[in-house]
Amino acid sequence: MNKAKSLYTCNECGGASPKWLGKCPSCDAWNSLVEGIAETPGKHRFQALVAAQPVATLSDIDASELSRLPTGIDELDRVLGGGIVAGGVVLIGGDPGIGKSTLLLQALDAMSRSARTLYVTGEESGAQVALRSRRLGLESSQVRVIAEIQLEKIAATIIAEQPGVCVIDSIQTVYSEELTSAPGSVAQVRECAAQLTRLAKSSGVSIVFVGHVTKDGTLAGPRVLEHIVDTVLYFEGDPHSSFRLVRAIKNRFGAVNEIGVFAMTERGLKGVSNPSAIFLSTHGDPVPGSCVLVTIEGTRPLLVEVQALVDSGGPSPRRLSVGLDRDRLAMMLAVLHRHAGIACLDQDVFVNAVGGVRISEPAADLAVMLAIQGSLRGRALPRGFFAFGEVGLAGEVRPAPRGQERLKEAAKLGFSVAIVPKANAPRRAIEGLTVHAVERIEQAIDLARGL
Ligand code: TYD
Ligand code: MG
Repeated sequence: MNKAKSLYTCNECGGASPKWLGKCPSCDAWNSLVEGIAETPGKHRFQALVAAQPVATLSDIDASELSRLPTGIDELDRVLGGGIVAGGVVLIGGDPGIGKSTLLLQALDAMSRSARTLYVTGEESGAQVALRSRRLGLESSQVRVIAEIQLEKIAATIIAEQPGVCVIDSIQTVYSEELTSAPGSVAQVRECAAQLTRLAKSSGVSIVFVGHVTKDGTLAGPRVLEHIVDTVLYFEGDPHSSFRLVRAIKNRFGAVNEIGVFAMTERGLKGVSNPSAIFLSTHGDPVPGSCVLVTIEGTRPLLVEVQALVDSGGPSPRRLSVGLDRDRLAMMLAVLHRHAGIACLDQDVFVNAVGGVRISEPAADLAVMLAIQGSLRGRALPRGFFAFGEVGLAGEVRPAPRGQERLKEAAKLGFSVAIVPKANAPRRAIEGLTVHAVERIEQAIDLARGL
């Protein structure tokens, strides 16, 4: 076979070189050249007379509903926006061992009842996949399996098998003959993903890539994968707890920031349909340094416990946070000091969101600050207490979106007293719930001390 020529392009400036160099000859960036296939210049490149193409008016284009194939797993359908779209390409990322292969095998089995499915495994043998499926209780599974890592063979198999859905587990193991780089390298992953995406679009096969996450938390190799595919899902969760979250961070066919909640059991992943309170730890009595907040993930309110520990530190005290933004923690400590007179200057401050959940919304601020002050003073907040609200640098407490829903969810779960931003105070009293509305952080701290 005639091998296509390789061309190394710089990730920084786009400069090209026919061979790999440590330093880009165009912009002097180090280690930025990545292998790709050299394109032969198109015939029409400099030809002036290329025929004009027909252009349509947007309102005239037929916008029929996308045809979706439900995965048969409700929580996964929720993050996908109702199922896998025909010809759509989904990337599922996550740490090794978190349950990607398990979930996809379960989903493929459920889908195999209404469509042809193909599972391409590059990490395990067919026998290993079979063993897993038996453990999952899928004895008579109709899922078709192939253990293969060469791109061209995989593509040919997809064309021959014509599945409705195909899973590539994982994209990092696939390599193309056209490139000399090793499987898993940026060049290979990018090229293979691009080729398979093209195949999905032209043939209407839905393809799901499994991608591993590197130590620094990005999808191994290239973030470029995120641009190529239609939907990016991430698996999160504390590997030591059985709960797993699947979060959509990009979705061309649905809402982002929707989450699916699963529990890992002996028989695979089971959806948790009412996840509201699984991120609360189970204390007998209230403990200092803990505060419950209501966060909104996608369309659902979730109650999450945040914990803070303030302890005397050395000359350069540490500020660490797990599941919450560290820069934001530094800001909150400054606001506490400046506006509420609470100084943690010589103290180590640790903050943790229970259950391995990651909270990115600023509405967590108030609960984090109350937890910090509780730990510092060694006093627990009362039983049934929760808080939410954003705190600004001027010490003002700002409203959180969809406050009523948050209050109602907490009341439903038996919470009885809350500190919330003034604008989120309920218009009509909610039964069993005492709400204290505040405008400033010092007010909130005073109130919490008196509760
Ligand atoms: P796996 O799907 O292989 O993870 P990934 O593909 O993301 O690397 O999940 C493996 C883990 O899940 C493994 O540690 C065992 C656990 N597990 C169960 O607890 N129950 C099960 O039914 C299965 C199949 C796996
Ligand atoms: Mg796996």
